[in-house]
Amino acid sequence: MPADVKSLILEGAELTDHALEELIPSAETVPASIHGAMRHSVFAGGKRLRPVLAMQAGTAIAGTRPKGIERLGAALEMLHTYSLIHDDLPALDNDDLRRGKPTCHVAFGEAIAILAGDALQTRAFEVLAGLDLPPAATVQIIALVANAIGTVEGMIGGQVLDLESEHLKPTPERVEAIHRAKTGALIRVSVVAGGVYGGADASDVARLDRFGRKAGLAFQIVDDVLDLTVDSEHLGKTAGKDAATEKATWPAVYGIEQSLRDAAQLIDEAFAALEPYGRQAEGLKSVARYLVERKN
Ligand code: IPE
Ligand code: IPE
Ligand code: MG
Ligand code: MG
Ligand code: MG
Repeated sequence: MPADVKSLILEGAELTDHALEELIPSAETVPASIHGAMRHSVFAGGKRLRPVLAMQAGTAIAGTRPKGIERLGAALEMLHTYSLIHDDLPALDNDDLRRGKPTCHVAFGEAIAILAGDALQTRAFEVLAGLDLPPAATVQIIALVANAIGTVEGMIGGQVLDLESEHLKPTPERVEAIHRAKTGALIRVSVVAGGVYGGADASDVARLDRFGRKAGLAFQIVDDVLDLTVDSEHLGKTAGKDAATEKATWPAVYGIEQSLRDAAQLIDEAFAALEPYGRQAEGLKSVARYLVERKN
């Protein structure tokens, strides 16, 4: 990864980790088992890409990183981690490896894992409600985020489509609908919410939304490719799972080479939406390029 993107991501991840450390109850707080489980999954070693996207979108709008935006990033990361804990449950993808560690239900049992996912979600909204912003911006962010993880073209809806598409012949329309919803929506809203945090007006929101939609779809296309091309050790999660469970993936429809071309093209198209921001959007663009060039 180029040195400047690397330091951007490292810096954003570090800010996010500090905020998470402060915002999630300690592992000794009663009831200790659930706080241990939340921390196990949150601090297992995620890339923190959603918080970094939010920070860079905020920077594209405001010109510098808006003060306190790491708390928005931490809330987005809690929501993402909740989705991963539930995604790995035996009733969903039934995975035992995540972020290089045993999955939450393997380490803490299914009941606590389900509740840890729930708890990360409620804590995330509590954190969003306390953002240091004018009330209208806070409410706007809460509404956008809740919608993006909901059932209509949001994360939960996408997970439902994903599960119900196992063992069916994947069509281009169905795979696109799954990907835009299960993963794309949270990536998109990370960009948009970061922009709102930085003071985005309605036309900025529309631009960031267009950018985030394309980047979010590209991100999941690459996740599918990596599942086929990288081993479990480097992925930190079980490789080859999608083919084994006959998931509806982009490469299952288009093959690996075309999938990589599609992801790269989506990122190029996404950049057009950022043109008015000039150099202020360079960070956001470089992180978006990393979304499709990453190796895990
Ligand atoms: C993986 O997301 C799960 C999907 C939504 C496809 P990431 O690749 O961002 O995973 P972490 O957060 O780095 O573990
Ligand atoms: C997961 O998609 C999307 C969400 C967690 C919402 P995948 O099932 O492809 O994610 P991985 O590959 O297990 O990380
Ligand atoms: Mg899944
Ligand atoms: Mg999975
Ligand atoms: Mg996957």
